[in-house]
Amino acid sequence: MKTLTIRRPDDWHLHLRDGAVLKAVLPETSSHFARAIVMPNLVPPVVTTADARAYRARIMAALPEGHRFTPLMTLYLTERTEPDDVAAGFESGEVTAVKLYPAGATTNSQSGVRDIEKALPVLERMAEIGMPLCVHGEVTDPAIDIFDREAVFVERVLDPLRRRLPELRVVMEHVTTKEGVDYAQDGGDNLAATITTHHLIINRNAILAGGIRPHYYCLPVAKREKHRLALRKAATSGHPRFFLGTDSAPHVDPLKECACGCAGIFNAPNTMACLAHVFEEEGALDRLEAFASLNGPAFYRLPPNEERIMLARQEEPVRYPSRIETGDGAVTVFDPMFPIHWNVETKAG
Ligand code: NCD
Ligand code: ZN
Repeated sequence: MKTLTIRRPDDWHLHLRDGAVLKAVLPETSSHFARAIVMPNLVPPVVTTADARAYRARIMAALPEGHRFTPLMTLYLTERTEPDDVAAGFESGEVTAVKLYPAGATTNSQSGVRDIEKALPVLERMAEIGMPLCVHGEVTDPAIDIFDREAVFVERVLDPLRRRLPELRVVMEHVTTKEGVDYAQDGGDNLAATITTHHLIINRNAILAGGIRPHYYCLPVAKREKHRLALRKAATSGHPRFFLGTDSAPHVDPLKECACGCAGIFNAPNTMACLAHVFEEEGALDRLEAFASLNGPAFYRLPPNEERIMLARQEEPVRYPSRIETGDGAVTVFDPMFPIHWNVETKAG
């Protein structure tokens, strides 16, 4: 039997939600991952260090006994965010990064940033103290086609911002295009990019060909095949500033399967198995550890995890639930549309 032992991975972009959904989805992450950058787009959003402290306590209270997991908290950047509060949270270790959502770009982003000028005092302070900014890189201009919003964001917003504040450490979250990959690749030490599990597996046909499939709809939306291939190449290249951010984003089924469904794919339960499949297909199993367990900590200036997990390839396809139940309803698990043969054998948290 083929096996692969790697350092315990981390998830550098994760939605854990709150309440009953948090309780149900957290073990899916904490059974495989040691740490995760936890997204702040709750309702209301996690805006201050005090909000992050309270949310962190709710996460720790929801953690099953015996699991060890460290949530790395983020603050939701608004036009009223206080630089002193952000800096205090970073310096005390209670906050790891700040998240920029252009207002209206995605789920619960209404309180995000409309005018980046208004956020400059916070961004300047972050550049000074070396605090990372996680960016949802899509413009919201209705005149821009949804498939072009990432490339236009790089050109109109991200590149000008980085020229103005070259010391600012930026993570381009969930890149989905060749343009995004190319920009991240050449961006130097202060620029990194996360890549999701699902964008390595699906292109836009999964959402639209032969019927509309809401469980493949997320933001940024999956693009054409050439972009998926560029993402695969980047993820499996060993380049130190590409790493895993699953963007696992649970929504209960009725909110996905309706006339105006929410964006978000829930992939926490089978991410490591799907990634092993992808890296094996690309002849790059020896680089999975860099992508999932080494590059992220290096960029965030944290030590890699000492524990290991073992992935084992089995003949028979692995069975896993197609949905999980939460106190608020069922959440459908990402279906990669191929049989998975990899099993995560050592799960102890
Ligand atoms: C995320 C969510 O549901 O919170 N949805 C998604 O499609 N990725 C928000 C986000 O990360 O854009
Ligand atoms: Zn996200």
